[in-house]
Amino acid sequence: MNDAPIRLARPDVGEAELAAVAEVIATGQLTMGTVVEEFERSLASAVGTSHAAAVSSGTAALHLALLALEIGPGDEVIVPAYTFPATANAVRLCGATAVLVDVDPDTFLADAGAIAAAVTERTRAVVAVHLFGRPVQWVELQTAVPQEVVLLEDAAAALGARYRGTPCGALGVAGCLSFHPRKIVTTGEGGAVTTDEESLDQAIRTLRHHGWTRSGDMPRPGFNYRLPDVLCALGVPQVARLEELLRAREQVAGWYTERLEELVLVPRAVEGDRHGWQAYVVQLDRRDEALAGLREVGIEAQIGTYALHRLEAYSSQGPFPGADRAFERALALPFSATTTEEQVDRVCQGLTRYVSE
Ligand SMILES: Cc1ncc(COP(=O)(O)O)c(C=O)c1O
Repeated sequence: MNDAPIRLARPDVGEAELAAVAEVIATGQLTMGTVVEEFERSLASAVGTSHAAAVSSGTAALHLALLALEIGPGDEVIVPAYTFPATANAVRLCGATAVLVDVDPDTFLADAGAIAAAVTERTRAVVAVHLFGRPVQWVELQTAVPQEVVLLEDAAAALGARYRGTPCGALGVAGCLSFHPRKIVTTGEGGAVTTDEESLDQAIRTLRHHGWTRSGDMPRPGFNYRLPDVLCALGVPQVARLEELLRAREQVAGWYTERLEELVLVPRAVEGDRHGWQAYVVQLDRRDEALAGLREVGIEAQIGTYALHRLEAYSSQGPFPGADRAFERALALPFSATTTEEQVDRVCQGLTRYVSE
């Protein structure tokens, strides 16, 4: 059997992306050109929102969305305790307080009851994280918080995922996407904010470009969080292939589920939803042994993500037993649109040794 190393993720980029990037290079207009708008139009159409503003990363998308909502000192924003740290960091970097809430360790998603219990008169927003591409149960979330609390989506892992038919990124007041190479669509690094609200979109565009407004004034300082044309060019053919990429991921997830569902806790979406399959994250008791053992045989597995209260920046909050359980048991298996069935076989065979009775 082939024993070549198996990478955690390998982006599905090829001739179309190469040609699109080459075309931008040939024009000499590497940034602030028309390909940015082309990429933005394709994203807005894929998500079904009126606007999509391309930015330099998913983290920048979260930061700008929160700033555009005028969230700042004195405000509280509810964030799951189990997520990639950028979700909470963006809140803190606006000067607001990230209030962590526990997650359901089986789904990895914030518990609606815990969200309801965390609401105070200072709560301005909830960042709903569709972690690993699994859609948040939106109606449950809406009923957990008062109407004036803004619902923002961290859809970094969820381009193409759907909650009861509605695309993630179109559920909240704004959706924050990431195009890191482990994501469904990649531009190397990159992100976007999707929204139906014209004023929010304008505020984000102003803040990503130093604070310049369309009239040429600068009411407050901003950032350089732009995504250049040369990277947007990589994204245009990727978004055009979104359905193909999602189907390829669904197929790989299916291969894993067939082989593993009797052995470990496997990820699933709720019936009627569409999982985005950004990652395929199983849970098992002997996670650390499995991670080390797989790596020893050249299989690049990884932990799921982080329990934020176990990081110094957020260690004043807790306990969060659900997040602890997820953090200790979650194992991300090699997964991307390019993963082959033979690779899935090898990973599953390697993993079987660590499945306790
Ligand atoms: C849930 C979540 N939010 C935010 C981010 C940040 O995205 P980026 O790496 O593009 O800044 C990530 C990236 O891994 C993520 O998984």
